[in-house]
Amino acid sequence: MEIVEFRPEMAAGLARCYNDLVADVPHCYPVSVEAFSSMERLASANCHDEALLAAREEGEVAGFVHVGIANPPKFDWHPQGEPGVIRFLSYRPGQRQIGTALLEAAEKWARERGRGEIFGWNSLYAYPFYHLFHANLSDRLGHLHSLFGKAGYQPDWGEVFFDWTGFVPPAVPMPALNFDLEVERQEKPEHERNQTVVKALHNGEEIGRCIMLRLGEVLPRPDGREWSFCDWLGVNEPLQGRGLGKFLLAQSLVEMQRAGCKHAAISTSHQNYRAYLFYTNFGFNFCDRTTSFRKQLENLALTAEDAETCPEPAEGAQRRIFGWPPEPSAPLFRWAGP
Ligand SMILES: CC(C)(COP(=O)(O)OP(=O)(O)OC[C@H]1O[C@@H](n2cnc3c(N)ncnc32)[C@H](O)[C@@H]1OP(=O)(O)O)[C@@H](O)C(=O)NCCC(=O)NCCS
Repeated sequence: MEIVEFRPEMAAGLARCYNDLVADVPHCYPVSVEAFSSMERLASANCHDEALLAAREEGEVAGFVHVGIANPPKFDWHPQGEPGVIRFLSYRPGQRQIGTALLEAAEKWARERGRGEIFGWNSLYAYPFYHLFHANLSDRLGHLHSLFGKAGYQPDWGEVFFDWTGFVPPAVPMPALNFDLEVERQEKPEHERNQTVVKALHNGEEIGRCIMLRLGEVLPRPDGREWSFCDWLGVNEPLQGRGLGKFLLAQSLVEMQRAGCKHAAISTSHQNYRAYLFYTNFGFNFCDRTTSFRKQLENLALTAEDAETCPEPAEGAQRRIFGWPPEPSAPLFRWAGP
């Protein structure tokens, strides 16, 4: 097995690896070879200096990792300090050596560029054709969760997804609050998307808002025009718990239905139990849980001086690189016999 940098002739193999990996992941659709035809086509607006490292076995692409350096943060919840990022990692379940080799190659790549930290599968850097907005690594990809965990990555952010095919907006009574409702269609070329914003205004001041996207306008998916996605729902804190959130969400779904949407999706942090309860009671169904990861990278770069004083490994001794191969561990249980 060899690890090589992206070459256009790998496009078909890369697309096959991507499509095989996401075949059972909700809201993912197969992409054409075109999607992997150049690094420019795959480039993210949120990172730079990207590289795609592919594992090849007997000339075939057996997996790949896509890395980059995060752009400076725009918000305080963005990864700080321009860390290395793993945008995507693909290998077949059961081929752990390939997954591990790719992960090590990604970490080495980041370390060589002076990065002290690496983020794995943060939605900010995800492929535009992967899953829904804000989606990190899907729980359906258990072998990748395990790979990151075994390699010392910590979960960083969890996002839970709900969807509702053939949604029927429930009749929600107007809350006993003094407010006006305003629906605004916003063109957002800077974010390459348009959005419908349903606002509650009290004396002209906004007290709650619901932002809806039509997926077909922002994601390359075949049924995108039929899907709406709630990108944000918020009510001013003193007014929470009085029915306004529910009313705004119901009104927003009515708006999206008028615009031709038949299905709806929404997400929230995995620890936002209030929203979790709200969305499931409202009519949405749990569909996926996704996680992003992060890891501090120890600096293993040797100075010339270190190299002189560092003894060569004894002949035949295998050097452990970044935790792989794993140290032999005690068996979890022993068969005591009948
Ligand atoms: C989540 C949020 C939008 C809900 O709006 P709200 O006006 O407070 O909620 P509502 O009064 O309309 O209640 C809607 C549902 O939320 C849940 N809920 C509301 N208050 C709750 C509480 N104190 N404890 C648990 N669940 C609660 C209930 O399921 C409720 O439905 P029900 O009344 O039929 O039981 C609002 O609390 C908010 O802005 N939170 C901060 C931002 C946020 O978390 N946004 C959503 C994630 S993207």
